[in-house]
Amino acid sequence: QMILYDDHLIDRSEVKIDIEDRAYQFGDGVYEVIRVYQAHPFCMDEHLARLERSAREIYLQLPYEIEKIKSLLSQLIEKNNLQDGNIYIQISRGTAPRQHGFPKESRPLIIAYAQPNQRPLQDLKQGVRAITTQDIRWLRCDIKSLNLLGAVLAKQAAVENNAKEAILIRDGKVTEGSSTNIFFIKNGQLWTHPANHLILHGITRQVTLSLAEKLEIPVKQEAILESQIPEMDECFLTSTTMEICPIVQVNDQPIGNGHPGPITRKLQLEFEKQIT
Ligand code: PDD
Repeated sequence: QMILYDDHLIDRSEVKIDIEDRAYQFGDGVYEVIRVYQAHPFCMDEHLARLERSAREIYLQLPYEIEKIKSLLSQLIEKNNLQDGNIYIQISRGTAPRQHGFPKESRPLIIAYAQPNQRPLQDLKQGVRAITTQDIRWLRCDIKSLNLLGAVLAKQAAVENNAKEAILIRDGKVTEGSSTNIFFIKNGQLWTHPANHLILHGITRQVTLSLAEKLEIPVKQEAILESQIPEMDECFLTSTTMEICPIVQVNDQPIGNGHPGPITRKLQLEFEKQIT
């Protein structure tokens, strides 16, 4: 397996990460997960624009221009002969003696690797179960930062409850999933949390909103209350790896008739057209 390390590709066994790398010690860095379909990255420009924004928001200067990073990622896909899967890329603030404040001298480090992965066809067809749990994360969820403990603990709660995702609740309102954005449908209208500091501005969320516009499905970017979940007709999650995936049960209550709903299906079909 060939890994992108700084600006060159090396074998995985050659990669050396310093014990004082700030990503390792502080989660001080940002990342992206980019989907690859038939060797073609999907929404690469949007992901790299978000990476650039995340980096800027934590005062991290990218070591290279976006165009150069883009070409390095293309080489990574090619050298690993990646057909269907993901690219994971992270940028750490670099290595320096351990002190919380930014080091005066450190060079940001990029690493990226390819993971073969198939589309989650069964989940997309049948839908998945989710639980709700408190959103204990920080107040800059719009930054795709390496600090993921809030998300890790929430997802683990889902895993232990045989659920695919944890829907996060802050002040009684649904924000997003632990690693996904969440949408609801009620009386033909789509509801999702506004793109502010409380959620990650998902690329798949944005694609879904464009598809809804195209299909003339009315959208309200407003949070719904946790107590309103059982009244909803349909529910789905979106992410790079899960695409548009129906949620058919939340905690112990079915959503709608407990099967993927018609508007979710319409959006899924339209999404498929974009990736094939
Ligand atoms: N997760 N919300 C959160 C908290 C996320 O971590 C993610 C992505 C999303 C969906 O964003 P997008 O559509 O751009 O993938 C929403 C990635 C896939 C991950 O951490 O693995």
